[in-house]
Amino acid sequence: MKIAIIGSGYVGLVTGTCFAHLGHAVLCVDNNKDKLRLLKQGKSPIYEPGLEQMIRENVKEGRLKFTASIAEAVRKCELLFISVNTPPKENGEADLSFIENVSQEIARNLKSYRLIIEKSTVPVQTGEWIYKTIRARAKHSLFDVASNPEFLREGSAVHDFLKPDRIVIGVSSARAEKLLRKLYEPLKAPLVVTSLASAGLIKHASNSFLATKISFVNMLARICDAAGADIEQVARGMGLDPRIGASFLKAGIGFGGFCFPKDLSAFLKMSERLGMRFDLLQEVLDINESQKQYFVRKIEQAVWNLRGKKVGVLGLAFKADTDDMRFAPSIDIIAALQKEDVKIQAYDPQAVSNARKVLSGVRFVKNPYEAARGVDALLVLTEWSEFLTLDFKRIRKTMNRALMLDGRNLYNPADMKRLGFEYHSVGRSVPAQLA
Ligand code: UDX
Ligand code: UDX
Repeated sequence: MKIAIIGSGYVGLVTGTCFAHLGHAVLCVDNNKDKLRLLKQGKSPIYEPGLEQMIRENVKEGRLKFTASIAEAVRKCELLFISVNTPPKENGEADLSFIENVSQEIARNLKSYRLIIEKSTVPVQTGEWIYKTIRARAKHSLFDVASNPEFLREGSAVHDFLKPDRIVIGVSSARAEKLLRKLYEPLKAPLVVTSLASAGLIKHASNSFLATKISFVNMLARICDAAGADIEQVARGMGLDPRIGASFLKAGIGFGGFCFPKDLSAFLKMSERLGMRFDLLQEVLDINESQKQYFVRKIEQAVWNLRGKKVGVLGLAFKADTDDMRFAPSIDIIAALQKEDVKIQAYDPQAVSNARKVLSGVRFVKNPYEAARGVDALLVLTEWSEFLTLDFKRIRKTMNRALMLDGRNLYNPADMKRLGFEYHSVGRSVPAQLA
């Protein structure tokens, strides 16, 4: 099938590349010239495991092409996915102006039947708005609008695309359903066929529910700290109940990224507009905000006087295996420390170039050992697996004080104690016999 992906960012680029990998002819559209230049050379503008190689292979095979022209996409492709970003407005609502612009451009170029598929996370009525926008400007009504939310996690997006738990398609015509069934048939995944509104809600509800689990477990972790219990044990004891499930019960410094924080705010606003107060979601967001400050207080208590101290940071990205810094908890934690005049030296395996754009006054270093050198405390803010196998003796020796605060519960407290660190994590007390 001939497919265009309009908006080739974290979501669009993975989607387009994976469709090409499945054998389709894909045209990825983007208005960012720098991105297009890199892509045309077979280079990925983002770090996503497995993606760059897949881009290179599919470009070479002639199945994956790039352009800045929506007109070309509408002319050549029957399926048009929209995956431009929907940034948050100041009041928390999603800004849909990129989607509107793209819809208008599609309308101006519409000559024969096209299926327009909304992939960005958007309020329920957006599909209808896209339809109305195109209908008002196009010369004919030979088109359908469908909704096909993505559930890709950054860091494992290629795997998630090729091995999905489910595929949700919101459609309003048999023709649209037939095309999308055919498109996804090779993935052999459970297909949930719904109305457009239900498809959008499935995405909002899924993200909100997952974020709720995280805030729930983070609050529990604080209770564990106060009660002398261990959140890992509590989460395991809960998670083995299949009605609860073990995933997304990892306590830490709160969720970040370009989905949970902004999608929750947008869902909250959307519910309000529909006349409903979804206060639970506000609480989830509030707990998430205060979780970062909770960790800052832990640092403060352990270091004592923060003013003038030097702190090392391991990991900046909002999660491991990505270079994405959008809404990364590290941003707020570092800002709170800098307010106290703390000097920061930080290492991240992939996110430094994005981090430079959002963090100022930070000294970026080339490896974890440099991050630890001469510091009064070392923080773990992203759970990169390379941090599991560090030479901790070497690290301890170079630190000014062997104090480690692990915001991702990456290490075993007893091991850290044995290695000579004063070690603090989130919701885990050191066993009494070792304390
Ligand atoms: C996506 C979804 O689309 C968003 O709704 C979801 O909630 C989060 O994930 P993402 O892929 O992470 O966004 O965003 P980004 O990496 O910023 O990609 C958007 C791309 O669209 C960018 O490459 C940008 O250059 C491009 N774009 C944006 C256009 O081509 N045209 C526009 O008018 C606007
Ligand atoms: C999320 C959804 O998982 C995905 O389905 C959707 O399409 C986009 O949003 P993503 O934001 O890429 O994906 O990553 P995810 O793995 O969900 O992590 C989000 C944040 O939650 C990260 O900051 C992560 O560190 C945090 N998290 C996740 C926890 O703090 N604890 C957990 O148990 C799980």
